[in-house]
Amino acid sequence: PVSIYKDEMTASIKVANRIAVVIKEKDAKGEKTVLGLATGATPVNVYKELIRLHKEEGLSFKKVITFNLDEYYPMKPDATQSYVAFMKENLFDHVDIDMMNVHIPNGELAEEQIFDFCANYEKKITAHGGLDIQILGIGRTGHIGFNEPGSAPNSGTRLVTLNDLTRRDASRDFGGKENVPKKAITMGVGTIFKAKQIILMAWNQKKASIVKKAVEGGISADVPATYLQLSDNVEFILDIDAASNLT
Ligand code: F6R
Repeated sequence: PVSIYKDEMTASIKVANRIAVVIKEKDAKGEKTVLGLATGATPVNVYKELIRLHKEEGLSFKKVITFNLDEYYPMKPDATQSYVAFMKENLFDHVDIDMMNVHIPNGELAEEQIFDFCANYEKKITAHGGLDIQILGIGRTGHIGFNEPGSAPNSGTRLVTLNDLTRRDASRDFGGKENVPKKAITMGVGTIFKAKQIILMAWNQKKASIVKKAVEGGISADVPATYLQLSDNVEFILDIDAASNLT
């Protein structure tokens, strides 16, 4: 299903509430919640609202386990552009999460360690009972996570090469495209697909044409987000601008 909201903030509050409901329901049953998290501009206001719910309405992250979609490779966790830094600044430093429960692909591994790390990342998600909710943004290449065009629907967590457009879009954060890492470690399309609920969010006119392809286009490896059309557990949550090209 596709839900369209009048603006990013309204939509972000809806998504934060969906996450909060799951955390509270599982908490009430004495169960942990496993969240799949994204970085980038798109989820920032979702995280802001979750922080508000924590500070003002007592939402607790003590029993929340998180797995982030991706990290640049190579990347030091304490670098300002790392997704570790992003998650601390935008969420983890402001809520009561136990950092032992936080998982983000490790951008510091030696190449020969990556394969085992990725297999282990998958195993850990499964061992925790799978992702309850996975939130996603969408890149202008049609990527979800860093599953760029050409990614297989059954792909798992792995090292990938970033598309040129993706690196261009990241260039501002790195002071030039030449400084953007060429690779990343990302959950696969298959990893994302196993989540019990998948929420893909998109705001802004800039995303309108890729959103149209993702929602209405033929299913194709050329636009990995189109694979989501095959899942019964997906909701596309859009603002009016991102939805403006839909039929
Ligand atoms: C980030 C991620 C990416 C972004 C996408 C959109 O963890 O996996 O797929 O969601 O590149 O980025 P923004 O939100 O900055 O437009």
